[in-house]
Amino acid sequence: MPAPRIKSPHLLVAESGADREGHGLKRTMGLFQLICFGVGAIVGTGIFVGLSDSVAQAGPAVVISFVLAAITCVFTAFSFAELGGAIPVSGSSYSFAYAGLGESTAFLVGWCLLLEYGISISAVAVGWSQYVNELLHSLIGWQLPAVLSAGPGDGGIVNLPAVLVIAMASVLLVRGVRESAGATAVMAAVKLVILIAFCAIGYSAFKHGNLTPFSPAGLGGIGAGTTAAFFSYIGFDAITTAGEEAKNPRRDIPVAIMVCMGIVTLLYCAVALAAIGAIGGKQVAGRPAALSYVVNEVTGSTIGGGVIAFGAVVAIASVVLAVMYGQTRILMSMSRDGLIPRVFEKVSPKTSTPVAGTLIVAIVFAVPAAFASLDAVMNLCTIGTLAIMAVVNLAVMTLRRREPGLTRSFRVPLYPVVPLLGIAFCLYLMFETGWRTWVQFALFLAVGFLVYVAYGRRHSTLARDLAAGADRDGVTAAGAEREPQEA
Ligand code: ALA
Repeated sequence: MPAPRIKSPHLLVAESGADREGHGLKRTMGLFQLICFGVGAIVGTGIFVGLSDSVAQAGPAVVISFVLAAITCVFTAFSFAELGGAIPVSGSSYSFAYAGLGESTAFLVGWCLLLEYGISISAVAVGWSQYVNELLHSLIGWQLPAVLSAGPGDGGIVNLPAVLVIAMASVLLVRGVRESAGATAVMAAVKLVILIAFCAIGYSAFKHGNLTPFSPAGLGGIGAGTTAAFFSYIGFDAITTAGEEAKNPRRDIPVAIMVCMGIVTLLYCAVALAAIGAIGGKQVAGRPAALSYVVNEVTGSTIGGGVIAFGAVVAIASVVLAVMYGQTRILMSMSRDGLIPRVFEKVSPKTSTPVAGTLIVAIVFAVPAAFASLDAVMNLCTIGTLAIMAVVNLAVMTLRRREPGLTRSFRVPLYPVVPLLGIAFCLYLMFETGWRTWVQFALFLAVGFLVYVAYGRRHSTLARDLAAGADRDGVTAAGAEREPQEA
């Protein structure tokens, strides 16, 4: 069996120019921007739309589900932080897999990232559309008819608001990351304020009796609730896709990931407790726009619900923006490696952004946004993300063995227990998604493997260089010695 094509971390960093000034992408993001970007990528449809589904599964014990989902993510967040600090390139988990496990695994991780990022762009845009209508209704008493605001599966024809939010995000991203980071910071602030205000209103009506029975569906319900709650955390790894645009990636990326996870976990538990404590789990379960409903019930007016709908519109739009950004950066890395067509790596000299790649992503994922329903794609997105997270934990372990001298600005604590627990939690949640999702996922991976064999394997720049006998590792190892980056 041929040895796996592995790309050394030094080569990945040297090729991206991530440790040099003056490479293609501009270094504009400090720690604050990275944290805003993380919150922007994480908090959206999962809490505003998905909370009611998680409560339907777990009841008030959804708080435990949120904590379990967070623990799964935090174990893996340590691994992302170690690798994001050691290999600060825009490919994120794709690049980590390339360095840790080889090209074919990396390609499949990149393929799964189309689920985590690409498909979630569409899913999140569909959630946005629902709240736009909710907002219009509470502002002017009118909303777009279903034919223009829902796909065929939801009783409409085309979901125009979902397409609109993707178009707006692509315009911002094409203009340049500085503008996008500014917009993301404002949107992150708005959503934090709205959710904190929601908690204040919810706790003003809090009744302990609403928390009983605490776990109506037992452990099974908590497990199912955890899988549903997991979607709300998807996106924390997007911070590592900013490796080539962060001012000090080796120091700031690990810190930003941990700060984001802390903020978001506290916020989700507080929101879930506030909602259930105010009106009871049964009232929240399965209810559309549940947060607006809670506020309307507590305040006895529809104004509060309108404000929450406004927050949801802002929150979900920022997720679309951040996730689209992440998707374009990953495709850029794959393109640079020759595994997908070159058009995705081209950076415009005028805006310093991948204009063509951004527009292609916008057009391709606007199609499911226009015609698909949210539920149809959420589980697939979840299983794909969990698979990627398991691979990232594995990559930490293989790289610790193979590259012990690699500069690591952050190290996973309690190694190897933490990455092993990360893998175990990911597998457990993958198992919870059910056999239908597994079948769909297996088919998706099979198609990915065929694409790799038919295109990626043949066009791989690493394969070309190996065939040409270029001693690239030697060159870059020397380069790495010249460019040590200790935080
Ligand atoms: N975590 C993201 C959201 O909840 C995907 O919208």
